[in-house]
Amino acid sequence: MAALPSIRGIREMQAWSDHARREGKRIVLVPTMGFLHEGHLSLVREAGKHGDCRVVSIFANPAQFAPSEDFDSYPRDLERDVRLLTEERVDLLFNPAAEDIYPAGYQTYVDVEEVSRPLCGAHRPGHFRGVATVVLKLFNIVRPHVALFGLKDYQQVRVIRRMTEDLNVDVDIIECPTVREPDGVAMSSRNRYLGPAEREAARCLQSALGKAEALVRGGETAARRIREVVVDEISRQPLARLEYADLCDPRELHPVEEVDGPTLLALCAWVGNARLIDNRILGDDEP
Ligand code: PAJ
Repeated sequence: MAALPSIRGIREMQAWSDHARREGKRIVLVPTMGFLHEGHLSLVREAGKHGDCRVVSIFANPAQFAPSEDFDSYPRDLERDVRLLTEERVDLLFNPAAEDIYPAGYQTYVDVEEVSRPLCGAHRPGHFRGVATVVLKLFNIVRPHVALFGLKDYQQVRVIRRMTEDLNVDVDIIECPTVREPDGVAMSSRNRYLGPAEREAARCLQSALGKAEALVRGGETAARRIREVVVDEISRQPLARLEYADLCDPRELHPVEEVDGPTLLALCAWVGNARLIDNRILGDDEP
């Protein structure tokens, strides 16, 4: 199998993209932090439908981790990632060095104000500032026509959409559905942190989302009542600790009291050392 072309330098990446654009190619970017799993690979495969050149970036972005968080222990396996991307026949891997993305003296950040505030934003101050900043930088370096993001990180997609709209960034954003393990647990690089009993316990997020959906289908509209059932389902699991369970409108992420249309239920729970998130649009036709 042909080796995977890869670029580490920023100027080299920009030159590659300039060349591809001059040739009339449509560049599609899948930004990742590596330690790839089927969730990432579903984005990589979908990318093929949106352009001619598929670029995957791997960059564990220090700016989106607080000092107390898991940046140092975040799983990494570049060799395996390269193998997976080679099998997917992507056109290019871009894996820049942290000191090139944030050189000494770096001081510019993107703050997407309101939509960054609730949910994960309330518990991870500065997280979405780091995400928006690196994604805009990746857009300026890779210069894609299209970029793909997974709905497992629902708020992240809202932040990035808001940023591209507000800053007139000429990149089409494509949202991709959450890929799950056979038992329903959302795939995540952080599932790596789970021991066998914890992995079993992680199922409570998906079962809580399912219970909430069943309630809504049964006619319940009170967000407070739906939230109670979710909290109860997570608290039955002794290895899980709920961080938040919120119902909000799916665009601006404002809290809702009544479910009278498609409503986002977003969940975050700690299981052991893993901070897990999941979500579901309630009252929609999602299976
Ligand atoms: P990372 O967690 O590596 O995820 C990269 C992309 O894969 C994101 O768009 C994420 O939503 C998507 N993804 C992760 N798990 C998924 C799953 N189970 N199903 C579908 N898609 C999934 O998200 C980031 O990296 C970073 O914040 C990044 C956007 C790269 C900026 O640093």
